[in-house]
Amino acid sequence: MKSPQLYDNHNRPLNYLRLSVTDRCNLRCFYCMPEEGIRYLPKKELLSFEEIERLVTLLAGMGITKVRLTGGEPFVRTDLMKLIRKISAVPGITCLHLTTNGVLTAPYISDLKALGIASVNLSLDTLNRERFKQITLRDAFDSVMNTLELLIENQIPVKINAVVMDGKNIDDILPLVELTKHRDISVRFIEEMPFNGEGAHYPVLTWTHRKILSYITEAYPTLQKINDPDNSTASNYKVPGYHGDIGIIAAFSRTFCGTCNRIRVTAQGILKTCLYDDGVLNIRDLMRTGCSDDQIEQKLMHAFAHRPKNGFEAEQQRTANTPVHESMSTIGG
Ligand code: GTP
Ligand code: 5AD
Ligand code: SF4
Repeated sequence: MKSPQLYDNHNRPLNYLRLSVTDRCNLRCFYCMPEEGIRYLPKKELLSFEEIERLVTLLAGMGITKVRLTGGEPFVRTDLMKLIRKISAVPGITCLHLTTNGVLTAPYISDLKALGIASVNLSLDTLNRERFKQITLRDAFDSVMNTLELLIENQIPVKINAVVMDGKNIDDILPLVELTKHRDISVRFIEEMPFNGEGAHYPVLTWTHRKILSYITEAYPTLQKINDPDNSTASNYKVPGYHGDIGIIAAFSRTFCGTCNRIRVTAQGILKTCLYDDGVLNIRDLMRTGCSDDQIEQKLMHAFAHRPKNGFEAEQQRTANTPVHESMSTIGG
């Protein structure tokens, strides 16, 4: 099946859906969720598997070819593999990716491999067991490392996501770079965004993409810039001779909006045409009030034709008039 080409109002091709399958998580990462007082959505508010399948089929017919499942932690949702099987069978979806914290993932790796999963992104902010506990408030470091090794063993492409947090994991930056010495993986250092359920952690972001790069370059003066894949969020580098590579993601500085090919759907079925907007269309309600696929497609097209040009414009246009503060677990990572 040849997919149609879908463009937004800034002539950016849209072909990538990031779909959050649950707002729940079994960790409590400092940068993502407050320790207490999280109100999870009741199950009936989440898109059902049937609704997700209908939506993905509709979007595939419009030009979406790539899907990433995120959360919350995807494996906290019961029967996730059933959903993965359904999505991977949707005509037009040519690659399926997954972002996971790796705690519950290991038993499913051979099934993921058999289904042809294109890659798995693993959240891992430290290689120190104690610090892992401090950052995530859970003692699950060994399970995550086991998942990492199994993914590599099964030859599933892996990217590690490490959010750089002032005063928390700066000492982990260089050990994480070293992880690429013998392993063909990509380790990405991410600017912390204020999507933590509370708001900004610092008056100004100290560990910007520039500072992360100069910190790494100081330790590895021969660090090489390598080509960035199309639509990459990361600026990519390699330590000469190392198997893997590293990337730096300017998630808060938002330097890559000009090539943004992503749309998001939250666990309760809200469309976001930018990570920084506060939701532009309630797809779940359209489905539940009996709209036809054609009617939903028209509303989606309208939203795609009114996309903010970047994350700064999206932030300005937020209807609630509040600065970004929601937890990444409700948005999808
Ligand atoms: P692929 O290109 O599908 O491999 O995904 P990715 O490289 O974007 O990786 P992933 O989905 O794991 O995203 C890594 C991190 O980059 C996210 O957790 C966010 O912190 C940040 N990020 C991803 N997409 C966006 C985006 O659209 N805007 C911004 N500002 N940050 C993003
Ligand atoms: N800032 C940057 N990245 C975040 N993530 C979650 N919360 C934040 C935040 N506040 C990303 C992490 C994690 C993925 C699921 O979402 O990279 O790996
Ligand atoms: Fe796309 Fe918005 Fe992220 Fe920019 S900030 S890359 S426009 S989602």
